[in-house]
Amino acid sequence: MKFYITILLFLAMLSGLTAQPKLNITKQVELIEKQYEGMLKVCKDTSLFPQSLLPDGTVKQMKSAWWCSGFFSGNLWYIYELTHQRKWKEAAEKWTLPLQKEQYNTSTHDLGFMLYCSFGNGYRLTKNEMYKPILITGARSLSTRFHPKTGLIKSWDGFKGYKYPVIIDNMMNLEYLFWAAKATGDSSFYHICVSHADQTIKNHFREDNSSYHVICYDSLGNVLAKKTAQGYADQSAWARGQAWGLYGFTVMYRETKDPKYLDQAMHIADFYINHPQMPKDKIPYWDFNAPDIPDAPRDASAAAVAASGLLELSRYVTSGKKEAYFSFAAEVLQSLSGPGYFISDPSKCFLLLHSTGNKPANSEVDVPIIYADYYYLEALLRYSRIIHHKKVIPTDN
Ligand code: GLY
Repeated sequence: MKFYITILLFLAMLSGLTAQPKLNITKQVELIEKQYEGMLKVCKDTSLFPQSLLPDGTVKQMKSAWWCSGFFSGNLWYIYELTHQRKWKEAAEKWTLPLQKEQYNTSTHDLGFMLYCSFGNGYRLTKNEMYKPILITGARSLSTRFHPKTGLIKSWDGFKGYKYPVIIDNMMNLEYLFWAAKATGDSSFYHICVSHADQTIKNHFREDNSSYHVICYDSLGNVLAKKTAQGYADQSAWARGQAWGLYGFTVMYRETKDPKYLDQAMHIADFYINHPQMPKDKIPYWDFNAPDIPDAPRDASAAAVAASGLLELSRYVTSGKKEAYFSFAAEVLQSLSGPGYFISDPSKCFLLLHSTGNKPANSEVDVPIIYADYYYLEALLRYSRIIHHKKVIPTDN
Protein backbone atom coordinates (compact mmCIF):
# COMPACT_ATOMS: atom_id res chain seq x y z
CA MET A 1 0.00 0.00 0.00
CA LYS A 2 2.77 2.39 1.07
CA PHE A 3 4.61 1.52 -2.14
CA TYR A 4 1.58 2.45 -4.30
CA ILE A 5 1.08 5.72 -2.44
CA THR A 6 4.74 6.59 -3.05
CA ILE A 7 4.36 5.78 -6.77
CA LEU A 8 1.18 7.90 -6.96
CA LEU A 9 2.89 10.82 -5.22
CA PHE A 10 5.84 10.53 -7.58
CA LEU A 11 3.56 10.52 -10.65
CA ALA A 12 1.62 13.50 -9.30
CA MET A 13 4.88 15.39 -8.82
CA LEU A 14 6.02 14.49 -12.34
CA SER A 15 2.75 15.60 -13.88
CA GLY A 16 3.02 18.84 -11.92
CA LEU A 17 6.28 19.51 -13.74
CA THR A 18 5.15 18.42 -17.17
CA ALA A 19 1.43 19.31 -17.18
CA GLN A 20 0.28 21.57 -19.98
CA PRO A 21 1.00 25.04 -18.71
CA LYS A 22 -1.62 27.75 -18.45
CA LEU A 23 0.77 29.94 -20.36
CA ASN A 24 0.27 29.72 -24.12
CA ILE A 25 3.83 30.15 -25.35
CA THR A 26 2.94 30.25 -29.05
CA LYS A 27 0.44 33.04 -28.50
CA GLN A 28 2.84 34.89 -26.22
CA VAL A 29 5.59 34.75 -28.83
CA GLU A 30 3.20 36.25 -31.40
CA LEU A 31 2.53 39.14 -29.01
CA ILE A 32 6.27 39.53 -28.38
CA GLU A 33 6.93 39.76 -32.12
CA LYS A 34 4.31 42.50 -32.49
CA GLN A 35 5.92 44.56 -29.72
CA TYR A 36 9.41 44.30 -31.19
CA GLU A 37 8.15 44.98 -34.72
CA GLY A 38 6.90 48.21 -33.13
CA MET A 39 10.32 48.78 -31.54
CA LEU A 40 12.12 48.31 -34.86
CA LYS A 41 9.83 50.86 -36.52
CA VAL A 42 10.71 53.45 -33.88
CA CYS A 43 14.43 52.70 -33.42
CA LYS A 44 16.36 53.04 -36.68
CA ASP A 45 19.69 54.55 -35.65
CA THR A 46 21.90 51.60 -34.70
CA SER A 47 24.31 53.81 -32.77
CA LEU A 48 21.62 54.41 -30.12
CA PHE A 49 20.25 51.43 -28.19
CA PRO A 50 16.72 51.20 -26.73
CA GLN A 51 16.83 51.54 -22.96
CA SER A 52 13.45 52.42 -21.43
CA LEU A 53 10.10 54.07 -22.13
CA LEU A 54 9.95 57.72 -21.08
CA PRO A 55 6.81 59.16 -19.46
CA ASP A 56 6.01 61.04 -22.71
CA GLY A 57 5.85 57.69 -24.54
CA THR A 58 9.14 58.04 -26.41
CA VAL A 59 11.95 55.48 -26.27
CA LYS A 60 15.02 56.55 -24.33
CA GLN A 61 18.08 55.42 -26.29
CA MET A 62 21.67 55.19 -25.10
CA LYS A 63 25.12 54.91 -26.66
CA SER A 64 27.03 51.63 -26.86
CA ALA A 65 29.16 52.46 -23.78
CA TRP A 66 26.07 52.31 -21.53
CA TRP A 67 25.89 49.06 -19.54
CA CYS A 68 22.54 48.07 -21.10
CA SER A 69 23.55 48.46 -24.75
CA GLY A 70 23.77 44.71 -25.45
CA PHE A 71 20.31 43.77 -24.24
CA PHE A 72 18.37 44.90 -27.32
CA SER A 73 20.33 42.74 -29.76
CA GLY A 74 20.21 39.96 -27.14
CA ASN A 75 16.42 40.24 -27.21
CA LEU A 76 16.43 40.03 -31.00
CA TRP A 77 18.61 36.90 -30.81
CA TYR A 78 16.20 35.34 -28.30
CA ILE A 79 13.19 36.18 -30.51
CA TYR A 80 15.06 34.54 -33.39
CA GLU A 81 15.63 31.50 -31.20
CA LEU A 82 11.94 31.41 -30.27
CA THR A 83 10.66 31.86 -33.84
CA HIS A 84 13.49 30.62 -36.13
CA GLN A 85 12.52 33.43 -38.48
CA ARG A 86 15.23 34.92 -40.65
CA LYS A 87 14.00 38.49 -40.21
CA TRP A 88 14.82 38.37 -36.49
CA LYS A 89 18.30 37.01 -37.20
CA GLU A 90 18.91 39.85 -39.64
CA ALA A 91 17.68 42.42 -37.13
CA ALA A 92 19.87 40.86 -34.41
CA GLU A 93 22.94 40.97 -36.65
CA LYS A 94 22.27 44.58 -37.55
CA TRP A 95 22.03 45.62 -33.88
CA THR A 96 24.94 43.47 -32.67
CA LEU A 97 27.76 44.74 -34.88
CA PRO A 98 27.65 48.40 -33.77
CA LEU A 99 28.61 47.25 -30.27
CA GLN A 100 31.99 45.95 -31.38
CA LYS A 101 34.01 48.95 -30.27
CA GLU A 102 33.12 48.09 -26.66
CA GLN A 103 35.50 45.11 -26.86
CA TYR A 104 38.27 47.58 -25.93
CA ASN A 105 36.37 49.20 -23.07
CA THR A 106 38.27 48.61 -19.82
CA SER A 107 36.32 51.19 -17.82
CA THR A 108 33.36 48.95 -17.00
CA HIS A 109 32.69 45.61 -15.34
CA ASP A 110 29.50 45.29 -17.40
CA LEU A 111 31.07 43.87 -20.55
CA GLY A 112 29.26 40.59 -19.93
CA PHE A 113 25.92 42.34 -20.29
CA MET A 114 27.14 44.42 -23.22
CA LEU A 115 28.99 41.80 -25.26
CA TYR A 116 27.92 38.36 -24.08
CA CYS A 117 24.16 39.05 -24.33
CA SER A 118 24.73 40.36 -27.87
CA PHE A 119 27.76 38.76 -29.56
CA GLY A 120 27.63 35.80 -27.16
CA ASN A 121 24.10 34.82 -28.11
CA GLY A 122 24.87 35.59 -31.74
CA TYR A 123 27.92 33.30 -31.69
CA ARG A 124 26.03 30.54 -29.88
CA LEU A 125 23.21 30.60 -32.43
CA THR A 126 25.10 31.21 -35.69
CA LYS A 127 28.78 30.32 -35.04
CA ASN A 128 29.62 33.45 -37.02
CA GLU A 129 33.42 33.37 -36.78
CA MET A 130 33.60 37.15 -36.92
CA TYR A 131 32.05 37.35 -33.44
CA LYS A 132 34.58 35.13 -31.68
CA PRO A 133 37.67 37.41 -31.65
CA ILE A 134 35.49 40.33 -30.58
CA LEU A 135 34.23 38.27 -27.65
CA ILE A 136 37.74 37.18 -26.69
CA THR A 137 39.14 40.72 -26.79
CA GLY A 138 36.19 41.90 -24.68
CA ALA A 139 36.82 39.17 -22.10
CA ARG A 140 40.47 40.26 -21.86
CA SER A 141 39.33 43.86 -21.36
CA LEU A 142 37.00 42.75 -18.56
CA SER A 143 39.80 40.75 -16.95
CA THR A 144 41.96 43.87 -16.61
CA ARG A 145 39.59 44.90 -13.83
CA PHE A 146 40.62 41.86 -11.75
CA HIS A 147 43.43 42.47 -9.27
CA PRO A 148 45.01 39.40 -7.64
CA LYS A 149 45.57 41.15 -4.30
CA THR A 150 41.86 41.71 -3.85
CA GLY A 151 40.81 38.57 -5.73
CA LEU A 152 37.93 40.57 -7.19
CA ILE A 153 36.83 42.32 -10.36
CA LYS A 154 36.43 46.01 -9.56
CA SER A 155 32.94 47.24 -10.40
CA TRP A 156 33.33 50.99 -10.43
CA ASP A 157 36.44 53.14 -10.27
CA GLY A 158 35.10 55.00 -7.25
CA PHE A 159 32.07 55.12 -4.94
CA LYS A 160 31.51 57.52 -2.02
CA GLY A 161 35.26 57.98 -1.66
CA TYR A 162 36.06 54.25 -1.80
CA LYS A 163 38.44 53.13 -4.55
CA TYR A 164 37.55 49.43 -4.90
CA PRO A 165 33.76 48.99 -4.83
CA VAL A 166 32.30 45.63 -5.85
CA ILE A 167 28.57 45.21 -6.49
CA ILE A 168 26.59 41.98 -6.35
CA ASP A 169 25.58 42.63 -9.99
CA ASN A 170 29.15 41.76 -10.92
CA MET A 171 28.35 38.06 -10.48
CA MET A 172 26.46 38.33 -13.77
CA ASN A 173 29.58 38.97 -15.83
CA LEU A 174 31.34 35.75 -14.82
CA GLU A 175 29.41 33.60 -17.30
CA TYR A 176 31.18 35.52 -20.08
CA LEU A 177 34.61 34.73 -18.60
CA PHE A 178 33.74 31.03 -18.30
CA TRP A 179 32.94 31.11 -22.01
CA ALA A 180 36.31 32.80 -22.69
CA ALA A 181 38.16 30.12 -20.68
CA LYS A 182 36.63 27.43 -22.89
CA ALA A 183 37.03 29.36 -26.14
CA THR A 184 40.73 30.17 -25.56
CA GLY A 185 41.93 27.37 -23.30
CA ASP A 186 43.26 30.10 -20.97
CA SER A 187 42.38 28.95 -17.47
CA SER A 188 43.10 32.37 -15.94
CA PHE A 189 39.55 33.39 -16.90
CA TYR A 190 38.21 30.44 -14.91
CA HIS A 191 40.34 31.30 -11.88
CA ILE A 192 39.13 34.89 -11.92
CA CYS A 193 35.53 33.65 -11.73
CA VAL A 194 36.24 31.31 -8.82
CA SER A 195 38.19 33.92 -6.89
CA HIS A 196 35.56 36.62 -7.41
CA ALA A 197 32.72 34.29 -6.41
CA ASP A 198 34.57 33.07 -3.30
CA GLN A 199 35.24 36.62 -2.10
CA THR A 200 31.60 37.46 -2.79
CA ILE A 201 30.36 34.54 -0.68
CA LYS A 202 32.69 35.65 2.09
CA ASN A 203 31.76 39.31 2.23
CA HIS A 204 28.53 40.08 0.41
CA PHE A 205 25.96 38.08 2.38
CA ARG A 206 24.18 38.59 5.67
CA GLU A 207 23.09 35.96 8.19
CA ASP A 208 19.65 35.71 6.53
CA ASN A 209 21.28 35.09 3.10
CA SER A 210 20.23 38.44 1.69
CA SER A 211 23.02 40.40 0.09
CA TYR A 212 24.46 43.87 0.36
CA HIS A 213 24.61 45.80 -2.85
CA VAL A 214 28.12 47.32 -2.65
CA ILE A 215 31.15 46.09 -0.70
CA CYS A 216 33.93 48.67 -0.56
CA TYR A 217 37.40 47.11 -0.38
CA ASP A 218 40.90 48.49 -0.01
CA SER A 219 43.60 47.56 -2.51
CA LEU A 220 44.48 44.43 -0.50
CA GLY A 221 40.94 43.07 -0.41
CA ASN A 222 40.07 44.14 3.14
CA VAL A 223 36.44 45.19 3.62
CA LEU A 224 36.13 48.88 4.48
CA ALA A 225 32.36 49.37 4.25
CA LYS A 226 29.11 47.66 3.26
CA LYS A 227 26.77 49.99 1.37
CA THR A 228 24.00 50.36 -1.14
CA ALA A 229 23.81 52.39 -4.33
CA GLN A 230 20.46 51.37 -5.80
CA GLY A 231 18.72 49.92 -2.75
CA TYR A 232 16.63 51.59 -0.07
CA ALA A 233 19.31 51.40 2.64
CA ASP A 234 22.72 49.88 3.30
CA GLN A 235 21.04 47.12 5.34
CA SER A 236 18.11 46.52 2.99
CA ALA A 237 17.62 43.78 0.41
CA TRP A 238 17.47 45.47 -3.00
CA ALA A 239 15.33 43.10 -5.08
CA ARG A 240 17.36 43.05 -8.29
CA GLY A 241 20.56 42.55 -6.33
CA GLN A 242 19.11 39.38 -4.80
CA ALA A 243 18.13 38.19 -8.29
CA TRP A 244 21.60 38.92 -9.72
CA GLY A 245 23.16 36.84 -6.93
CA LEU A 246 20.76 33.95 -7.38
CA TYR A 247 21.43 33.81 -11.12
CA GLY A 248 25.19 34.33 -10.75
CA PHE A 249 25.74 31.53 -8.23
CA THR A 250 23.60 29.18 -10.31
CA VAL A 251 25.97 29.83 -13.22
CA MET A 252 28.95 29.26 -10.88
CA TYR A 253 27.57 25.83 -10.05
CA ARG A 254 26.86 25.02 -13.70
CA GLU A 255 30.41 25.88 -14.70
CA THR A 256 32.37 24.40 -11.77
CA LYS A 257 30.04 21.76 -10.27
CA ASP A 258 31.33 22.87 -6.87
CA PRO A 259 28.47 22.20 -4.40
CA LYS A 260 29.29 25.28 -2.33
CA TYR A 261 27.96 27.43 -5.18
CA LEU A 262 24.81 25.34 -5.42
CA ASP A 263 24.29 25.83 -1.68
CA GLN A 264 24.76 29.57 -2.06
CA ALA A 265 22.31 29.76 -4.98
CA MET A 266 19.75 27.78 -2.95
CA HIS A 267 20.22 30.00 0.12
CA ILE A 268 19.53 33.07 -1.99
CA ALA A 269 16.60 31.42 -3.79
CA ASP A 270 15.01 30.41 -0.49
CA PHE A 271 15.40 33.92 0.93
CA TYR A 272 13.83 35.32 -2.23
CA ILE A 273 10.88 32.99 -2.85
CA ASN A 274 9.85 32.76 0.81
CA HIS A 275 10.18 36.43 1.67
CA PRO A 276 7.11 37.64 3.64
CA GLN A 277 7.00 40.82 1.55
CA MET A 278 6.82 38.93 -1.75
CA PRO A 279 3.47 39.88 -3.33
CA LYS A 280 0.96 37.23 -4.41
CA ASP A 281 1.77 37.72 -8.10
CA LYS A 282 5.48 37.04 -7.32
CA ILE A 283 6.73 40.34 -8.76
CA PRO A 284 8.78 41.88 -5.94
CA TYR A 285 8.76 45.42 -4.70
CA TRP A 286 11.93 47.18 -5.85
CA ASP A 287 13.42 46.61 -2.39
CA PHE A 288 12.20 44.02 0.12
CA ASN A 289 12.58 46.66 2.85
CA ALA A 290 11.00 49.59 1.03
CA PRO A 291 9.21 51.62 3.72
CA ASP A 292 6.06 52.24 1.66
CA ILE A 293 5.13 48.62 0.91
CA PRO A 294 2.43 47.84 -0.36
CA ASP A 295 2.51 51.13 -2.28
CA ALA A 296 6.17 50.84 -3.27
CA PRO A 297 6.97 50.38 -6.99
CA ARG A 298 7.55 46.85 -8.22
CA ASP A 299 10.53 45.62 -10.18
CA ALA A 300 9.53 43.34 -13.04
CA SER A 301 13.18 43.14 -14.09
CA ALA A 302 14.14 41.52 -10.77
CA ALA A 303 11.25 39.09 -11.22
CA ALA A 304 12.43 38.14 -14.71
CA VAL A 305 16.10 37.67 -13.68
CA ALA A 306 15.04 35.55 -10.69
CA ALA A 307 12.63 33.46 -12.80
CA SER A 308 15.33 32.69 -15.34
CA GLY A 309 17.82 31.79 -12.59
CA LEU A 310 15.28 29.64 -10.73
CA LEU A 311 14.44 27.70 -13.89
CA GLU A 312 18.09 26.78 -14.34
CA LEU A 313 18.54 26.10 -10.62
CA SER A 314 15.51 23.78 -10.64
CA ARG A 315 17.53 21.44 -12.89
CA TYR A 316 20.32 21.05 -10.35
CA VAL A 317 18.37 20.34 -7.18
CA THR A 318 16.46 17.36 -5.92
CA SER A 319 12.79 16.72 -5.39
CA GLY A 320 11.03 19.28 -3.22
CA LYS A 321 13.23 22.22 -4.13
CA LYS A 322 12.95 21.32 -7.80
CA GLU A 323 9.17 21.75 -7.82
CA ALA A 324 9.31 24.83 -5.58
CA TYR A 325 11.76 26.70 -7.83
CA PHE A 326 10.08 25.60 -11.05
CA SER A 327 6.56 26.48 -9.96
CA PHE A 328 7.63 29.85 -8.52
CA ALA A 329 9.25 30.75 -11.85
CA ALA A 330 6.19 29.52 -13.76
CA GLU A 331 3.98 31.79 -11.66
CA VAL A 332 6.30 34.73 -12.37
CA LEU A 333 6.05 34.06 -16.10
CA GLN A 334 2.29 33.79 -15.82
CA SER A 335 2.12 37.19 -14.10
CA LEU A 336 4.55 38.86 -16.50
CA SER A 337 2.66 37.50 -19.51
CA GLY A 338 -0.69 38.77 -18.24
CA PRO A 339 -2.38 42.17 -18.64
CA GLY A 340 -0.89 43.56 -15.42
CA TYR A 341 2.64 43.51 -16.84
CA PHE A 342 2.71 42.57 -20.53
CA ILE A 343 2.26 45.52 -22.90
CA SER A 344 0.01 44.55 -25.80
CA ASP A 345 0.47 47.80 -27.71
CA PRO A 346 3.22 47.87 -30.37
CA SER A 347 3.44 51.68 -30.18
CA LYS A 348 4.94 51.20 -26.69
CA CYS A 349 7.70 48.96 -28.14
CA PHE A 350 8.82 47.16 -24.96
CA LEU A 351 7.40 43.93 -23.52
CA LEU A 352 7.00 44.59 -19.80
CA LEU A 353 5.66 47.33 -17.56
CA HIS A 354 6.76 48.07 -13.97
CA SER A 355 10.52 47.84 -13.72
CA THR A 356 12.56 50.03 -11.42
CA GLY A 357 16.08 50.97 -12.46
CA ASN A 358 17.46 53.28 -9.79
CA LYS A 359 14.88 54.42 -7.25
CA PRO A 360 17.22 56.45 -5.00
CA ALA A 361 18.30 58.47 -8.05
CA ASN A 362 14.64 58.72 -9.16
CA SER A 363 15.72 57.23 -12.48
CA GLU A 364 13.56 54.77 -14.43
CA VAL A 365 11.02 54.13 -11.70
CA ASP A 366 8.06 51.88 -12.57
CA VAL A 367 8.69 51.89 -16.33
CA PRO A 368 9.49 49.42 -19.13
CA ILE A 369 13.26 48.74 -19.21
CA ILE A 370 15.19 46.76 -21.79
CA TYR A 371 16.85 44.24 -19.44
CA ALA A 372 13.48 43.17 -18.02
CA ASP A 373 12.55 42.13 -21.57
CA TYR A 374 15.86 40.25 -21.94
CA TYR A 375 15.48 38.06 -18.87
CA TYR A 376 11.76 37.56 -19.55
CA LEU A 377 12.57 36.21 -23.01
CA GLU A 378 15.35 34.04 -21.59
CA ALA A 379 13.04 32.68 -18.89
CA LEU A 380 10.36 31.96 -21.49
CA LEU A 381 12.91 30.02 -23.56
CA ARG A 382 14.09 28.06 -20.53
CA TYR A 383 10.54 27.32 -19.45
CA SER A 384 9.62 26.16 -22.93
CA ARG A 385 12.66 23.86 -22.99
CA ILE A 386 11.86 22.35 -19.62
CA ILE A 387 8.27 21.53 -20.47
CA HIS A 388 9.37 20.09 -23.82
CA HIS A 389 12.12 18.06 -22.10
CA LYS A 390 14.98 19.78 -23.89
CA LYS A 391 18.25 21.12 -22.51
CA VAL A 392 17.44 24.07 -20.35
CA ILE A 393 20.27 26.52 -20.63
CA PRO A 394 20.29 28.50 -23.85
CA THR A 395 24.07 28.68 -23.58
CA ASP A 396 24.34 24.88 -23.81
CA ASN A 397 22.39 24.40 -27.01
N1 GLY B 1 23.83 47.83 -12.10
C1 GLY B 1 22.89 47.11 -12.80
C2 GLY B 1 21.51 47.22 -12.26
O1 GLY B 1 20.97 48.30 -12.21
O2 GLY B 1 20.98 46.24 -11.88
